[in-house]
Amino acid sequence: MNAPAKTDEFVAPEAAASKPAIPDGVYAETVLAVEHYTEHLFRFRMTRPPGFRFRSGEFAMIGLMVGDKPIYRAYSIASPAWDEELEFFSIKVPDGPLTSHLQKIKPGDTVLMRKKPTGTLVLDALTPGKRLYMFSTGTGIAPFASLIRDPETYEKFEEVILTHTCREVAELKYGFDLMEEIREHEFLGEMVGDKLKHYPTVTREDYPFQGRITDLMESGKLYTDLGLPPLDPAVDRGMICGSTAMLKDTKALLEKAGLTEGANNKPAEFVIERAFVG
Ligand code: A2P
Repeated sequence: MNAPAKTDEFVAPEAAASKPAIPDGVYAETVLAVEHYTEHLFRFRMTRPPGFRFRSGEFAMIGLMVGDKPIYRAYSIASPAWDEELEFFSIKVPDGPLTSHLQKIKPGDTVLMRKKPTGTLVLDALTPGKRLYMFSTGTGIAPFASLIRDPETYEKFEEVILTHTCREVAELKYGFDLMEEIREHEFLGEMVGDKLKHYPTVTREDYPFQGRITDLMESGKLYTDLGLPPLDPAVDRGMICGSTAMLKDTKALLEKAGLTEGANNKPAEFVIERAFVG
């Protein structure tokens, strides 16, 4: 049977043409700021829906209406749980289904977000320890941007080491900006003090610190540079976020050092985020 023609709904033609309907059950937030770092990297901040709760280190599904359809991808929330706004750090893929559009957003634009955040890079998934290593490559730094700005991280750990490896020096800038923001922050600056160590390295350009983090762990240079002993499962904890190959290789080294992988329902000595947008 054919559905009867709907004659009782009126949609203003200009509204229908310019603004596709927002799908039910998702947040529609307003972009507040956009900063482009390189041809391939940018970050943006948007409004945080009242009542949207998450744990620092979790990710959410972020999307845009493309034509009349929403497209979503998993994005780590880069801002900490206490922040009134939400921050994201993203790659730009020229023909990427979402990022080819997302890279063009401007303040005032609408970004969609599904309601339920989730993820394994949370402090609750780790057993107590003294030192927390955060291993990241590329935009894998995003969940750690959240955690290094959360006071709880420093309540739970005496020392926090953020490693960030990129191909080129320009790609490290977000990490340096975060360190500066923390140092200058009214409350965080004092709380963090010298507990947070930043270890940036690049693999395809000249730079004082060079090489894949996995090679630097294997050679022991990472620990020598930091003035720390090699990994010890009694005191060291780890979180890993990067490409699939980097996750696999870093995990193997942590396991070789005697650390075991944990999860939300089974805390242990290290955790991995597998929903990373690479
Ligand atoms: P490399 O330049 O030697 O490939 P990508 O953009 O490909 O995700 O790489 C981001 C950074 O991660 C690069 O510095 C890259 O080094 C490094 N990387 C890539 N694969 C691995 C891996 N399996 N283990 C550790 N680091 C990796």
